[in-house]
Amino acid sequence: MHASLKINKLRRLFVGLTAVAAAAAATSSFAQLSDDAVRARVDALMARMTLEEKAGQITQHFVFQEVPKEEERAAKEVAAGRGGSVLLLKTAADINRFQQMALKTRLGIPLLVGFDVIHGFHTVMPVPLAMAASWDPAVAQEAQAVAAREARAVGIHWTFAPNVDIGRDARWGRTVEGAGEDPTLGSAMAVAQVQGFQGPYIGAPGRVIAGPKHFAGYGASIGGRDYDEVDLSDSQLWNVHLKPFKAAVDAGAGNIMSAYMGLNGVPASGNHWLLTEVLRKSWGFKGFVVTDAGAAFDLTTHGYTRDKPEAARQALLAGVDMEMTKPFDSQVFANLPELVSKGEVPVAKLDDAVRRVLEAKVRMGVFEKPLVDEAEAAKVLADPAHRDVARRAAERSFVLLRNEKQLLPLKGSSLKSVAVIGPLADSAVDTVGPWIFAQNDAETVTVLAGLKAKLGAKVKVDYSPGVSMPKRANKSIFPEPKPVTVDDSKEIARAVQMAKQSDVAVLVLGEAQIMSGENASRSSFDLPGRQQELLAAVMATGKPVVVLLMSARPLDLKGLAPQALMQIWYPGTQGGAAVANVLLGEVSPGGKLPFTWPRNIGQVPLHYAHLQSHFTHAMTERYWNEPNSPLYPFGFGLSYSSFEIQDLMLSQPSLKASETLKVSVKLRNTGARKADEVVQLYVRQKAGSSARPVRELKAFRRVSLDAGATQTVSFDLPASELQYWSAAVRRFVLETADFDVFVGNDATAKLAGKFQLEGEAIARP
Ligand code: BGC
Repeated sequence: MHASLKINKLRRLFVGLTAVAAAAAATSSFAQLSDDAVRARVDALMARMTLEEKAGQITQHFVFQEVPKEEERAAKEVAAGRGGSVLLLKTAADINRFQQMALKTRLGIPLLVGFDVIHGFHTVMPVPLAMAASWDPAVAQEAQAVAAREARAVGIHWTFAPNVDIGRDARWGRTVEGAGEDPTLGSAMAVAQVQGFQGPYIGAPGRVIAGPKHFAGYGASIGGRDYDEVDLSDSQLWNVHLKPFKAAVDAGAGNIMSAYMGLNGVPASGNHWLLTEVLRKSWGFKGFVVTDAGAAFDLTTHGYTRDKPEAARQALLAGVDMEMTKPFDSQVFANLPELVSKGEVPVAKLDDAVRRVLEAKVRMGVFEKPLVDEAEAAKVLADPAHRDVARRAAERSFVLLRNEKQLLPLKGSSLKSVAVIGPLADSAVDTVGPWIFAQNDAETVTVLAGLKAKLGAKVKVDYSPGVSMPKRANKSIFPEPKPVTVDDSKEIARAVQMAKQSDVAVLVLGEAQIMSGENASRSSFDLPGRQQELLAAVMATGKPVVVLLMSARPLDLKGLAPQALMQIWYPGTQGGAAVANVLLGEVSPGGKLPFTWPRNIGQVPLHYAHLQSHFTHAMTERYWNEPNSPLYPFGFGLSYSSFEIQDLMLSQPSLKASETLKVSVKLRNTGARKADEVVQLYVRQKAGSSARPVRELKAFRRVSLDAGATQTVSFDLPASELQYWSAAVRRFVLETADFDVFVGNDATAKLAGKFQLEGEAIARP
């Protein structure tokens, strides 16, 4: 591709917006009810509350129904007015039962019911990382709207999602819950999900409050080890990790969850700078802050406070409004009445927190409608339209990484037999992925089931799990489904025979769902158990092999290169149906990697937006033993067609701080079928008061094009998108500088142009 800068030659109408700006433009008001009306109602109620009732309102209890004593304990707290919120209840009947208890308390204030609706409730959507891989914020918004509708139907008002933590180290298990490594993609996905959950305003019918989490920096835990401390430079914090949170707050998120870990030495849930200076004062956040589970109690664990009362005081004064108690009853906010009586906590501080929680209840209409109709809830959960959304979201999330000799799509007409192999090929629990609690496994379409249904009786479909899925060495905090267990050596031999007798082998390999998610970090990217051996044995047959990777990590196939390789993440309830549609060519894959895929784990963390340094001629030779370039770059993904991106045009050679640069390219589908391409725009500030990354994604658009068709794809790049936090002067700057712009279909895009920004001239100290 050649560089072509055609200044002022744009005749087309630019309708493009950057993804973030586009989503933000659609952002609705924070709420439908006026602040004054809500406040008046809440003040009247607060005037009647005792200190104990106030502390109760801002205390949230776990209801672990698997442990009857725990359910009893939570019920007792609610009945005594010592709980304003509960989490984990998931049926309309149970939620109504708890609401009845709350209604019988002295003031009869109903509960705000929370739940981890991370990627679907009853109908399971692809995991959030997969939705990010669609590079289609609209699909994430639609998926979360369905999740909200199901959750609200059973009486849930609030989800602890989206997770907007930036994940740059896939050893960290929670990478699966986020949008990957990039703050622009992450912000677009954050906004889309907030809008999907909340709808046009807080309290909209069929919607729930969104709670972006975990504020802030959790994705950078040291060594990728979940819960461990985070040591982030201010530059990384402002320019990378805080960005999606800011976008989510600007989109009107009603809640924020404060993180577990220490951020640069100060625990996030007792961090006044983070929760008050940044979130409230600088960003103007109007919702309420909840701690992560027991994170207020943990201020003492961190050695940040001496005891429970001090932890309560510090959390509240730092800016926490509600304590999510530590599972199995370790709460600290119960100390607040005494702290207020002793004058150690100003009552006004307690009142601020209570007011924010009650305001959320008023806005959500909890007082008007504390109970839900159970029959109606059942109908909503059974809505077939939800399954369609799940299937489409999955289809759009797959990333095709290899497709030698156009093995895919499989030619349905000439296909006689398929061997479906692998421990994840027919596992419903793994297909839906982690953080799912209210699904019906019998409804989940596995890859095996999806292929069988699609291929019909004329094609012979054989199945072998191939090998066992090993157990975790350390126990998960979630229930561990029984893994597939077989006699590995015998089963490998059987799978090989099966492959030999089939036209094609489809291997579904990867990690079980409990190997990703919370408390699921990993020090290896190898295929667990003997899957590598299985893959090698099947490939040795010489038969065409398609590998589908079910994981949220860039797994290391150790140089084995199957003819076709596609990342299918954890694709959800309709995962198998979506896989079948893509493998058989009904839909062309169009997803792109939301992270850089390293060659091996020794390169981690590896991300494209790094800084430039010494010895640039040997940028990929930082290790003496192998290249340090990625195996697949950020933003990479193939399709069944091919595309050309040309004719880069910029609207002007230079722009002022108040102006918007218009950038356009011509996208042409040069292949023989309709398919999608994601056009990605990166910029580089060539010099600044602080060193800038080699390139940063600023905008993208997923476009669907017919074979042979050409479309102009336009982006608006407001100068404000070029501002960044400069470590040299310790504030956001928009500086006079030269910029390169690159447009293409992954982070190595070569089509380039240039422009100048007339911003401020920064004098370094
Ligand atoms: C997780 C949160 C989650 C909460 C409630 C915590 O352990 O870190 O992300 O929302 O549990 O389930």
